[in-house]
Amino acid sequence: MNSRQISAPEHISNQPETVWTLQLPKIRFGRGSTEELAHQLQGLGVAAPARGLLVTDSEIVSHGHSNQIKKVLEEAGFSTKTYDDVRREPSVTSIEDCLNHINEVAGEDGFDFYIGLGGGSCMDTAKAVRTIKANDGTVTDYISEPTGRGQDLKKSGAPLILMPTTAGTGSEISPVAIIDVPEKNTKEAIASQHVRADAAVLDPVYSVTLPSKETALIGMDALGQAIEGYITHSFDSLLRARTPTNRPVYAGRTPVTEMYSERAIELLYQNIRRATHNGDDIHARSDMLLGALFGGIAALTAGSNLCHAMSYPVANKWHTYHGETIAVLTPASTFEYNKGSNPARFETIAELFGVDTTGLSPHEAAEAAKQQFIQLQRDLDVVPSGLHELTGATEAHVSDLAERCITQQRRLLRCNPRSVSEDAIADVYRDALRNWE
Ligand SMILES: [Fe+2]
Repeated sequence: MNSRQISAPEHISNQPETVWTLQLPKIRFGRGSTEELAHQLQGLGVAAPARGLLVTDSEIVSHGHSNQIKKVLEEAGFSTKTYDDVRREPSVTSIEDCLNHINEVAGEDGFDFYIGLGGGSCMDTAKAVRTIKANDGTVTDYISEPTGRGQDLKKSGAPLILMPTTAGTGSEISPVAIIDVPEKNTKEAIASQHVRADAAVLDPVYSVTLPSKETALIGMDALGQAIEGYITHSFDSLLRARTPTNRPVYAGRTPVTEMYSERAIELLYQNIRRATHNGDDIHARSDMLLGALFGGIAALTAGSNLCHAMSYPVANKWHTYHGETIAVLTPASTFEYNKGSNPARFETIAELFGVDTTGLSPHEAAEAAKQQFIQLQRDLDVVPSGLHELTGATEAHVSDLAERCITQQRRLLRCNPRSVSEDAIADVYRDALRNWE
């Protein structure tokens, strides 16, 4: 029996929390919002002829999205350079490459503004580079402990606007950049209010070019995260930080979480089939983007928990795609392991999924929610039936994955609504090997 557990950090008091906070960038949503980009920049105090860097990847460039943005900005007197070498799942090295590019092209002062255009990888890269550029030090200095040195960022840097092209998990509004640290076999975060963008511009037109498989898997990630936030601890059931600056980025669910996560679950569940099977359906795309934004707002303090914590050791070992990893782990972790922590909450999830819960006990309704979620995955046609189909993982890999999870993912595991041990995590990995036959 392995008894390794999660303990509270020193900066947490023994008094219950009584305060919650909400910080958002300026948000502009809807078809045509790109055309208002110059106005958005001016609202951030950036005046023409300022020079900006568009941080994106080659696929986004190939769809013409970056050229459209450059044109809008140039017509308003701004100039932009494009960095299109963002790698999927950004790493310490890929962030440093982008920082070196900024130093070469723009020198010590950097650019006057930054725009991150694309999925989570592009937005996280943009968030990391503009903030690290403004602070002394290396990427590793600011990655959370114990993987990095966990130093505090002192300032945000030049204004940053994020423009998501996928309906993902709200990187455009979150204070976190996820970074791969391959030499330590883990993914970690730079988490600070200084990392958050100043503005987010969400134009659903850009998400129409997202391929069907990615639409389904990124949507699974967004839906999984919305549910993780909805079931996590309430902020006032946690212990209060000794000072406001010590309050963790993920500090439990708040009344804001309740409202936004329920609507996010509905919007994502109701539109993911249409957006996946008919990518040109702009209404489904727009509602997916809105659902992902609402899920992101809900997750701002609620964060994510067991499922995401378990995903990183898998991604590190097999280099799996994030959305796909979350998809195969969600039934066993978010639903099966956690549903007993608060069955009434899972009953509401079942209702949001359209299940008639009349006559069902909360436990039966929670099981119905899990089955409905698995049926959704099957209907999407592209979600693997479990961790085994995705990676080839077997019973032999379970204990190693559980050990990595509990030693490297304390930040997320602390947020799980049901306490976890290494043995419990191993059981969940075992359960996730096959979600259906
Ligand atoms: Fe995620």
